[in-house]
Amino acid sequence: MEGFHLALLLLSSLVVLAFGSSQNLPILSFDEGYTHLFGDNNLMILRDGKSVHLTLDERTGAGFVSQDLYLHGYFSASIKLPSDYTAGVVVAFYMSNGDMYEKNHDELDFEFLGNIRGKDWRIQTNIYGNGSTNVGREERYGLWFDPSEDYHQYSILWTQSQIIFYVDDVPIREIQRTEAMSGDFPSKPMSLYATIWDGSDWATNGGKYRVNYKYAPYIAKFSNLVLHGCTVDPIEHTSKKCDSAASSFKIPNGITLQQRTKMMNFRNKYMTYSYCYDRVRYQRPPPECVLDTQEAKHLRAFDPVTFGGGRRHRGNRHHHRASHEASSI
Ligand SMILES: *[C@@H]1O[C@H](CO)[C@@H](O)[C@H](O)[C@H]1NC(C)=O
Repeated sequence: MEGFHLALLLLSSLVVLAFGSSQNLPILSFDEGYTHLFGDNNLMILRDGKSVHLTLDERTGAGFVSQDLYLHGYFSASIKLPSDYTAGVVVAFYMSNGDMYEKNHDELDFEFLGNIRGKDWRIQTNIYGNGSTNVGREERYGLWFDPSEDYHQYSILWTQSQIIFYVDDVPIREIQRTEAMSGDFPSKPMSLYATIWDGSDWATNGGKYRVNYKYAPYIAKFSNLVLHGCTVDPIEHTSKKCDSAASSFKIPNGITLQQRTKMMNFRNKYMTYSYCYDRVRYQRPPPECVLDTQEAKHLRAFDPVTFGGGRRHRGNRHHHRASHEASSI
């Protein structure tokens, strides 16, 4: 028994080693993998051909998109966010097919929400499947570092059966596909996007703090861009071409034991919102939710009204809806 555990532990550390170091990532140059989406000169490709700056100023934000559509894969970027006063600024790193499917699109989001001076950026993750926009599946977190101080790697693993969001080598969220979820699990090809934009109306405390262009330009810096998955022909969705694993890079195929501990620690310490525990919004949690007593306790301490420890004001639902779309600071 002991030997078996040791073997498992060894095995999981090997997997972490193979995946944990970013040197081995199959990094594409901008021209190989992406195209300019909007914001003219506010998108700047650096001389190495691999790093990109996206700027928000009073004229416009900016963004880029992958050239190909992907059905499953591993998608990643090193991102350094703008510093100082960033209230109302939103940086998004996400997958979507909203331009192809107006009514039943899929989406996988990392959203970074700026803040007033002295308060840290917050991260939000979310998913939609087949147009499930009436069921928000947001989670929000603080971070154990200042994301405007240095580059950090943000990654999305999307397979047929699960979705995992990572910050550096820490999985922060895992969504297992359940039967009950059916179409709400993203299952059509998507493009990868990176954008910066003015989210004054909702990003910081429900629009209380707007973008202040006195502090512009706001520059989000991207590098180590990874698109590693199966591309799909936009017309004939049937032909699927998968990247072969780069020599020393292995797409993670799940969460190791070590990583699971890290994920639990992260969520028990840094998560500030999860739809699974929001009793005001969902009387019964959506079917994929796996409730954890530690997480529940942590969230209740953070916000007793939303997470069900305190008195609920049934007559005031609108207020609550507004308050979780717009994060508290
Ligand atoms: C997605 O939605 C469309 C119509 O909105 C429906 O016909 C289809 O069955 C759905 N697919 C899944 C996998 O639920």
